[in-house]
Amino acid sequence: MTTTAIAPTNIAIVKYWGKNPAFENLLLPTKSSLSFTVKDLYTKTTVTAKKGSGQIDFTLNKKKILQSMKEYEYVEEFLRKVSQFFPFILKYDYKIISENNFPTAAGFASSASGFAALIKALAGELKEFENLRSDDRQLSALARLGSGSATRSIPSKGGFVIWHRGLDYTEKVKISQIDAHNCSYAETLFEPSHWPELVIIYAKVGKEEKKIKSRAGMRTSIDTNPLYGGWVKYEEEEMNNQVIEAMKAKNFPKLAELIMKASNNLHQICLGTYPPIIYLTQKSMEIIDAISELNKNGIKAAYTFDAGPNPVIFCIAKNKDEVMSSLTKIMGSENLVVTSMGPGARYESKNLG
Ligand code: PMV
Repeated sequence: MTTTAIAPTNIAIVKYWGKNPAFENLLLPTKSSLSFTVKDLYTKTTVTAKKGSGQIDFTLNKKKILQSMKEYEYVEEFLRKVSQFFPFILKYDYKIISENNFPTAAGFASSASGFAALIKALAGELKEFENLRSDDRQLSALARLGSGSATRSIPSKGGFVIWHRGLDYTEKVKISQIDAHNCSYAETLFEPSHWPELVIIYAKVGKEEKKIKSRAGMRTSIDTNPLYGGWVKYEEEEMNNQVIEAMKAKNFPKLAELIMKASNNLHQICLGTYPPIIYLTQKSMEIIDAISELNKNGIKAAYTFDAGPNPVIFCIAKNKDEVMSSLTKIMGSENLVVTSMGPGARYESKNLG
């Protein structure tokens, strides 16, 4: 058989940055995070499985991925991690063809949509996974084993998603691996139809690949930033609830303020890491200044930055033209992608290859 799945990327509003040290192998996060599922940026993945021994034939963006390449290692490691709960997964050989409809550069993250599309396609392809195919909770927990942010790309209703941390990393608990694994998953809190006027703009200000991979950077932040624990506690106990309330009330000015603060908080945590992790560039700062200028007489837009220099900007439809003209002045319209909230991972009848 052959199965194809599509999974969107997602943009975090309240960020994930750090794994629970007791369950690092399971990528259990230290805090819950919130995101928007992005309509027009996605990965499409076709999987063909035959009885075998876990051999992988992998093509990404029309390029053959060799065993020595890091993308191959990531997929291999992912299958190995899934196999600890579902050993049958290594009793097949796989042909995997995957394509992103966006550049795999910094800011246009691909690991979230990539691992989400892969696990969704695997679940459709393997008969042993039959019960999991439409079980977003279990599938999102499995996507997490590939990349933390992939957890949030699974819930099929998409929209505004929460990824539950499951465990408080500051408490010592006696819990089995499988129970720990199952307690951290994602779900939709508000579907895209809740707020169709919300506009999401991806902006590309730099081309370079991330200098410091988020995986390594997170660990250093936990180990060296003395403010890390306070940040986790504040966002877990206060900020997440405030963001959910602002979303529920469709209060854009409040939501925008919280989004910008949460982004600043992440980059403050990164800067306070030793050695410091610096993702924002001069161009990123220019964007922050431009948005602050736009917001002088009432909040019209918000920015957020992940592990790279590229911002994602939010506004509501009635202010889109004004926001776009301000962004276009800094970077040209060819570097802007306008989109909105969309659905989550799903199956597709047309196969790749
Ligand atoms: O799951 P990763 O390794 O792609 O880490 C994602 C980290 C951030 O993008 C910076 C924040 C987030 O929550 O997506």
